[in-house]
Amino acid sequence: MSLQEKRIPVHLAIVMDGNGRWAEKQGKVRHQGHRAGAEAVRAIIDESAALGIKVLTLFAFSSENWQRPPDEVSFLMDLLLRALEQEMQTLEQRNIRFRVIGERQLLPAKLVSKICDAETRSQKNSGLIVQLAVSYGGRWDIVQAARALGAQIAAGALAPEAIDENHFAQQLSFPDLPDVDLFIRTGGEIRISNFLLWQAAYAEFYFTDLLWPDFTIAALHTALDDFSRRQRRFGRVHQAGD
Ligand code: FPP
Repeated sequence: MSLQEKRIPVHLAIVMDGNGRWAEKQGKVRHQGHRAGAEAVRAIIDESAALGIKVLTLFAFSSENWQRPPDEVSFLMDLLLRALEQEMQTLEQRNIRFRVIGERQLLPAKLVSKICDAETRSQKNSGLIVQLAVSYGGRWDIVQAARALGAQIAAGALAPEAIDENHFAQQLSFPDLPDVDLFIRTGGEIRISNFLLWQAAYAEFYFTDLLWPDFTIAALHTALDDFSRRQRRFGRVHQAGD
């Protein structure tokens, strides 16, 4: 499919699964799989920016991933820290805005400070928005929104009947950005795994057996071709031009 025929999603979200299996297949340790996964992230960010995707949300570490062995958790935290240190300049050069969604008070203080620094330094950039989901869970996001609304009600600042879907969504992690258009999961599993539960309500889903470190730019284009052929109805009937 030519670039002209391709429909480019405004918001692309990816569950980057399969680093561990990739390493195992190569006779390597899991850490090496995560390192190769970080390399794949770099290429996909570059291509997303080049294609004019507006928002790229990447699932880097889930609420459930805290239950992994401590040495794997600390390796991943370290990898994120080092990636931020190394890539900050590239993000600036490419006009990329960087943000993190998730329960950041659970993260190591050093990582939180790097995240805040990267967010502040890139906040005026007008190109691709890269959102890293770290210590993130879709249920956590919905619960923290409910809690914020509950506090407003308790303070007498909000009437329960004033809450509608738009109002609720304002309390979620990224009220200023559009919902997900295309949701990709690598690694062969066909499930959401508590990623963007609310924001992916009308997303198109694309599952591939490729393990994340093998998800190349060509693989991204295959997913985009598939997305371009989907008919999106958002619960309505098909209309000419859809
Ligand atoms: C899932 O593979 C992957 C993760 C839990 C971590 C994702 C992290 C990266 C891709 C690298 C770091 C990212 C950045 C942004 C620098 P898995 O370990 O669950 O694989 P498995 O299912 O084969 O065991």
